[in-house]
Amino acid sequence: MTAIIEEAARRRTFAVISHPDAGKSTMTEALALHASAITEAGAVHGKAGRRGVTSDWMDMEKARGISITSAALRFEYRGHMFNLVDTPGHADFSEDTYRVLAAVDCAVMLLDAAKGMEPQTLKLFEVCRHRRIPVITFVNKWDRPGREALELLDEIEEKTGLRPTPITWPIGTGGFFHGVIDRVADRAVRYTRTPGGATKAIETDLTPEQAEAELGDDWTRASDEVELLGAIGADHDQKAFEGHESTPVLFGAALNNFGVGRLLDAMVDIAPAPAPRPDAKDVPRPLEEPFSGLVFKVQANMDPSHRDRIAFVRVCSGRFERGMVLTHAATGRPFATKYAQAVFGQERATIDEAYPGDVVGLVNATALRPGDTLYDGPSVEFPKIPSFAPEHFWTARCRDAGRAKQFRKGIEQMEAEGVVQVLRSEIRGDQSPVLAAVGPMQFDVVKHRLAGEFNTEIALDRLDFSLARITDAESAPILARQRGVEVFTRSIDGELLALFTDEWRMRGVLRDHPNLVLKALLADT
Ligand code: G4P
Repeated sequence: MTAIIEEAARRRTFAVISHPDAGKSTMTEALALHASAITEAGAVHGKAGRRGVTSDWMDMEKARGISITSAALRFEYRGHMFNLVDTPGHADFSEDTYRVLAAVDCAVMLLDAAKGMEPQTLKLFEVCRHRRIPVITFVNKWDRPGREALELLDEIEEKTGLRPTPITWPIGTGGFFHGVIDRVADRAVRYTRTPGGATKAIETDLTPEQAEAELGDDWTRASDEVELLGAIGADHDQKAFEGHESTPVLFGAALNNFGVGRLLDAMVDIAPAPAPRPDAKDVPRPLEEPFSGLVFKVQANMDPSHRDRIAFVRVCSGRFERGMVLTHAATGRPFATKYAQAVFGQERATIDEAYPGDVVGLVNATALRPGDTLYDGPSVEFPKIPSFAPEHFWTARCRDAGRAKQFRKGIEQMEAEGVVQVLRSEIRGDQSPVLAAVGPMQFDVVKHRLAGEFNTEIALDRLDFSLARITDAESAPILARQRGVEVFTRSIDGELLALFTDEWRMRGVLRDHPNLVLKALLADT
């Protein structure tokens, strides 16, 4: 095996998908606690500084207690290098989420034991299904009163269509979480909390006799249920898991660090390592080919004291070395990587080399956009990350005419980062572009960032459109004459977009003009 293939085999690149409040930040900290590299890097700040490890750079995020931006966290466990890519945790849905999931090989679906499958979890799960990303389920907060474990399995199956295959099974419920039966390792483990959950939980092996004597009815019930699971064949099957037919399930409590180590072990043992990624011609690019990487996220001004712009790149093949001069597939121009960094939450460290699966932050990446490919050697390009159809449309206007230039620059920046799409038309003019997004919170982000980073106050007004379709130059003038329809040019790619108030309006227009060209924006479903 070449060094590159060996290095790739020990990479695990994943995201945690969950509904807000299910415990993603707590889980991230608990994972980092298990991982020596991060502790040494000083990225875990303990309870007082909690969230230091996550990615809330923006004041707005702090105020709302949500995480809007995404970062990658790198840590080592059992000789494996983990890259945890952060998904936006807010209830609003943005394109960011799709892009981030383009960078991972596996997802951990985190459920709140009392709430089960919540709407945001399900939406994120749909993206995983669509991208065929294998999903491991972690039922969190088992230390609190919640639902029946068997009932939760039914719900997972019903809502995701995946067959749940528990790896661990809880002993005790409703606040009496003694430990788990590990169905794969065939052992019973008792968890003992360390004060404040500040260190790893203490795990003690129990023989069935000890378990019965010490845990009584809770043990009997758990072992009966485990027998039932065996009888119905709910056992882990690697092929079914990788083929998106089943989901291994673990139970735990991130707050007390119960079951978190077991989750990491499961990731090492069963989560897929980086594999050859299909290029735009659908030819898988072997891992040992020269360097290639996919830009999945561009973030400007993460740190107000360094006015910079970081592009997060997932390494798809080859070895990355800092200082390499790569080619930017979209423009054919060279791209120097002198300032490559690994990002640990808010902290950064220079990274000198990286392998498939790793996430590298490239500083001063003004030319890079989400979905772009960088490569070394012969040309390669990965498929564009699908751009999802916006459903919300607002006009933006600069409040102070003296700051028109900064306004223009700021809007361009938001477009380049993919925060919003920018639509323009002659009728509305350059001073008043229309911003389009999948979720309405993106407009708050634009407003906040223009004020904070470009010192420009903007006024936003909601437009009464909810549907966009791609059209062509012949259909555009006909559409422009219809009531409840407006035609724009999308500035990033020059596509003509027709906006409709609603589906009903679009159907009405099509009835009168059946030959109009109207294509859905979803490239990939
Ligand atoms: P999020 O990032 O998914 O939004 O969730 P977060 O980790 O912030 O957790 C949400 C709340 O759930 C927090 O409580 C957190 O302490 C709690 N929590 C997370 N995991 C567990 C668990 O395993 N057991 C129990 N009992 N609680 C858990 P909070 O009161 O909102 O915040 P805090 O004051 O504790 O920071």
